[in-house]
Amino acid sequence: MRKDSPKRAQNPIGDLTANADSSLWVDREKLECCSVVPEAPDAATFSFVAPSGNLFKFEPGQFLTLELPVPGGPLYRTYTISSSPSRPLSISVTVKAQKDSIGTRWMLDSLRPGMQIKAIGPAGQFTLDTQNKKKYLFISAGSGVTPTLSMTTYLYDRGTDIDVNIINCARRPGEIIGYQALMAMAARVPTIKLAFIVEEDDPFQVWTGLRGRMNQIMIGIIAGDYLERDIYCCGPEPFMDAVREMLIGLGYDMARYNQESFSAPAEEAEEIPGDDVTPDETAAAQITFSGAGVTADCTETDTILAVARSAGLNIASGCTFGVCGTCKIRKIRGEVHMVHNGGISEDDISEGYILACCSKPVGQVEVDV
Ligand SMILES: Cc1cc2nc3c(=O)[nH]c(=O)nc-3n(C[C@H](O)[C@H](O)[C@H](O)COP(=O)(O)OP(=O)(O)OC[C@H]3O[C@@H](n4cnc5c(N)ncnc54)[C@H](O)[C@@H]3O)c2cc1C
Ligand code: FES
Repeated sequence: MRKDSPKRAQNPIGDLTANADSSLWVDREKLECCSVVPEAPDAATFSFVAPSGNLFKFEPGQFLTLELPVPGGPLYRTYTISSSPSRPLSISVTVKAQKDSIGTRWMLDSLRPGMQIKAIGPAGQFTLDTQNKKKYLFISAGSGVTPTLSMTTYLYDRGTDIDVNIINCARRPGEIIGYQALMAMAARVPTIKLAFIVEEDDPFQVWTGLRGRMNQIMIGIIAGDYLERDIYCCGPEPFMDAVREMLIGLGYDMARYNQESFSAPAEEAEEIPGDDVTPDETAAAQITFSGAGVTADCTETDTILAVARSAGLNIASGCTFGVCGTCKIRKIRGEVHMVHNGGISEDDISEGYILACCSKPVGQVEVDV
């Protein structure tokens, strides 16, 4: 994951400041669901329009955080935008519910055309370098295909100089998400090359593609010139770990490797540049939530989000690992140790904002909650 400042709502079909333009959607306006398309078991694509008719502007690979009105209070869930900014009339997310899912399951069971929900974003740094002509290899597994869908559609719509190899992995053929959409683009553009790898067959269905788990030999067969390609990878953490290991073993230049995590990375996020404060697990700390008039004792290794929850206070949060930006709050005084995954910009940090989910108090801290 890149660690430079996060970008919001920027793409090559407009300029950065165009968010002030009234014809573009901004997240103060709710989204209205306009279609629900089943993709696979427990997976569907939800498309939304802006009731005002405003258009959507984002970069392929960015995400939205949806406020889901589940019973018992809203839940915030982050989803990569699976549609392309080249089709700005609507915006889509493609979701897959795992066992015991609450938020995504609510979408599949209850979110229907005509309903309006709040969304935050677009945001995220896992985006294409659209300014330069590049050869790409998109590798994905399961619902991690969503950035591939947006990026491929964007390149397909742009129409010139496309050179994309796509490897998508799924447990079974029937669980491949976006199969028809990717096939339709690859069928019309010879320089979009598409390969699916499945672990098991579906009963009574012929599968003529690759079987097994992706390995170094398959990468070589599918994308012989992978060393010349920028790689974008998205899928479960163990899948991405395996892909990284394969690529390192193959001598790939990892500076050209990009990945998006849908869940907290196993390793600790990187410290923000210039942050030289280290929390001490034996040291006592205190957080004052000034709006609520509550002061709570804790240690320097507790996150502000966790302390707020223990004190019965609600700070809206989504990913809880510093990527979605939902838990951004203002620090009034004191020092925190913040390790994030790109969910806050340098500008916000210099204006005194922090992410509650990945900020730990150093001594006494006061926040605007
Ligand atoms: C940048 C980004 C992009 C993403 N893009 C997509 C996307 O395009 N499509 C997609 O489908 N997902 C995407 N995700 C993942 C998505 O945001 C959710 O994290 C995921 O769908 C799980 O949420 P849920 O509501 O389905 O399940 P949850 O209700 O959060 O549950 C998830 C799992 O955690 C367990 N669990 C929940 N609560 C608890 C608890 N209190 N204690 C113990 N276990 C618990 C449940 O049993 C379940 O197995 C993305 C995430 C990020 C950060
Ligand atoms: S909850 Fe996502 S950044 Fe804190």
